Amino acid sequence: MSKHGEVLWFTGLSGSGKSTTARALVEPLRESGRKVELLDGDELRQTISHGLGFSREDRLTNIKRIVFLCKLLSRNGVTVIVSAITPYEEMREHARAELLGYVEIFVDCPLEECERRDVKGLYAKARNAEIKQFTGIGDPYEIPETPDIVIRTQMDEVENNVALIMDYMTTKTGRS
Ligand code: PPS
Repeated sequence: MSKHGEVLWFTGLSGSGKSTTARALVEPLRESGRKVELLDGDELRQTISHGLGFSREDRLTNIKRIVFLCKLLSRNGVTVIVSAITPYEEMREHARAELLGYVEIFVDCPLEECERRDVKGLYAKARNAEIKQFTGIGDPYEIPETPDIVIRTQMDEVENNVALIMDYMTTKTGRS
């Protein structure tokens, strides 16, 4: 019987550094002998979740689709990295309940800092009410209650956060 791959689920505000950290994690995980797939929320919204909006219901549908993909990959031994805002505890509970080897990584970065970075210019649009229901502005982000790992991207460099996660993967999952 093949071993399930772990699912490393990055949750956090837009611009918090989820995708940057997730991308930087791919190579170290591959070097440790794992098969790795990265699922990025922004990309999935252009493909399998194309047409979905940002209501609570649509976001939940989006997350359920990602969880389903994770299941398929994970049960075939692939380690999956997910980068998606996943703003509600209910969604993260769903992912945790459904996925073997689920590891929740809270990308903790203050809203003011995400807004200052405003990499995609979306916070400015949200403030102008050009985008409604923008997470952190017109829509909630519930702070994770039981994350397995917390990284602080305002204070720590990407390499340090990747090292922290790799340490966790070695000590908690027993795989180096
Ligand atoms: S969710 O809530 O988990 O379903 O969101 P996700 O699939 O990760 O998609 C988030 C990306 O969509 C862009 N975007 C928005 N985010 C939040 N709220 C609103 N209203 C919104 N509209 C567009 C944004 O680029 C997010 O990408 P990231 O990488 O998080 O910045």
